[in-house]
Amino acid sequence: MEPLIETRNLKTYFPILGGFFRRPVNMVKAVDDVTLSIQKGQWMGLVGESGCGKTTLGKTILRFYRPTSGHIYLNTPFEIKEKIGTSEHLKHRTAEVNNLIRRHDLASFKGKKITTLRKRMQLVYQDPYTSLNPRMRIGNIIGEPLKVNKLAHGKAIKERVIELMDMVGLSKEHYKRYPHQFSGGQRQRIAIARALATNPEFIVFDEPTSALDVSVQAQILELLKKLLKEKGLTYLFITHNLNVAEVVCDTIVVMYLGKIVEVSKASAIFEAPKHPYSQALVLATPIPDPKRRRKRIILSGEVPSPTNPPPGCRFHPRCSRATQECETQEPVLESRGDGHLVACWHPLN
Ligand SMILES: Nc1ncnc2c1ncn2[C@@H]1O[C@H](COP(=O)(O)OP(=O)(O)OP(=O)(O)O)[C@@H](O)[C@H]1O
Ligand SMILES: [Mg+2]
Repeated sequence: MEPLIETRNLKTYFPILGGFFRRPVNMVKAVDDVTLSIQKGQWMGLVGESGCGKTTLGKTILRFYRPTSGHIYLNTPFEIKEKIGTSEHLKHRTAEVNNLIRRHDLASFKGKKITTLRKRMQLVYQDPYTSLNPRMRIGNIIGEPLKVNKLAHGKAIKERVIELMDMVGLSKEHYKRYPHQFSGGQRQRIAIARALATNPEFIVFDEPTSALDVSVQAQILELLKKLLKEKGLTYLFITHNLNVAEVVCDTIVVMYLGKIVEVSKASAIFEAPKHPYSQALVLATPIPDPKRRRKRIILSGEVPSPTNPPPGCRFHPRCSRATQECETQEPVLESRGDGHLVACWHPLN
């Protein structure tokens, strides 16, 4: 089946301005050549150390950022992606291919087309307090996307908002309250209801439960699970917490310095990670169960700068398995069977 979301060779570089004329003097390669497929109904976890490009990747797919190069597709037929892909090496694309890019490649979208896209793809942040207008009542906050996109009018807006509030476990009495009158967990429910207002197909969650205590976190994750099933949604779930990822995600993507280093079923990455970096991440995560223990590996060295990433494999300066090959040649994501992809010259097991 064709993936719902697909990125091909996606790059998002941020310019570093310098000098008297504030010209770009260098680039932060936040997302560097990411090719990724997300199937409909999938709950994909995106993990990696701080600064590795998780948020930038999520926001680029949703087109909050304009990618430097590459393609982003939402429910696009294979033949169209191939036609665009095979034209890559040509100096001049045909008018037909240019037309396909304008219609299907989200990376090329501008203005109104991006606004339309927002209805189909949504973002939920870690701290909804900053994204919920403190002067607006909850009913209006949740109903705003309906108004902006002219999806409902008058009484129908209120009816839909109450339906959405019910869906996320908020009661009707909350309709007229303000954001400060809610707990962190309830505010996250408000943000989820607002994200659901336009009936999206795909939602990016950026650390949605990191600010919540464990029991509230579990309730929100339960809610997300229910919504995924009932509404036929697809999630990209960014998290620092590998224990959470293990419980809720079906697939895990590990990023390191702007690149994907491993993609696998969630169970496989925790039981038998193949990339030395994924292994280090897994081993650095404390297990909540005191009866189970892991031998800890502490990652040595600093995370290198995404402005001047190391040559070859970006992880090689911190990798105990690195050889000369790793210092000079960049590994690409290769299949190791059963949907397991690894970018490493010397994978484990
Ligand atoms: N708008 C921006 N302008 C310039 N540089 C940016 C911008 N956003 C992110 N970066 C840089 O891009 C890199 C990736 O940042 P990003 O926020 O995507 O990482 P992250 O994996 O989400 O980190 P965290 O886990 O801390 O949220 C970092 O080096 C960051 O400093
Ligand atoms: Mg982030």
